[in-house]
Amino acid sequence: MKVFRSFLLVGCLTALSLTYGCTKKSSNTSSLYVPTSADVTATATLQDLQQGRALYIKNCNSCHDLPTPDNYGVSSWKSIMSSMGPRTSMTSSEITLVTKYVTRGQ
Ligand code: HEC
Repeated sequence: MKVFRSFLLVGCLTALSLTYGCTKKSSNTSSLYVPTSADVTATATLQDLQQGRALYIKNCNSCHDLPTPDNYGVSSWKSIMSSMGPRTSMTSSEITLVTKYVTRGQ
């Protein structure tokens, strides 16, 4: 009987997470610029920007589509990243790389 009840519980939790969880996985990445040497700034190397793009695609599309970097200005991105970064499992240095990518090296 105890076993049956825990099965029921697991079933309910699964149903709940399927209904309310972050299940979105695919995203259109064609609007996300691919960094070139022309995008390098005093604070962002080409490698920073390339890693930032990959981390952005990997970590930021589980709940919603990926906004295009040009959708927001630099100061908006900085406040967005301080609220969105902690919703991912990225380290603070990875969050910094994503911030460099979305702000085009600012
Ligand atoms: C756990 C789910 C989740 C993850 C992961 C996530 N977001 Fe979000 N995001 C949300 C929700 C929910 C909203 C709606 C607004 C809110 O709750 O703040 C949102 C809103 C946004 C917005 C719109 C903000 C505005 O003011 O219009 C942007 C841009 C954004 N997220 C970027 C990102 C970036 C960049 C990452 C990766 C660092 C990310 N999100 C990861 C859940 C998530």
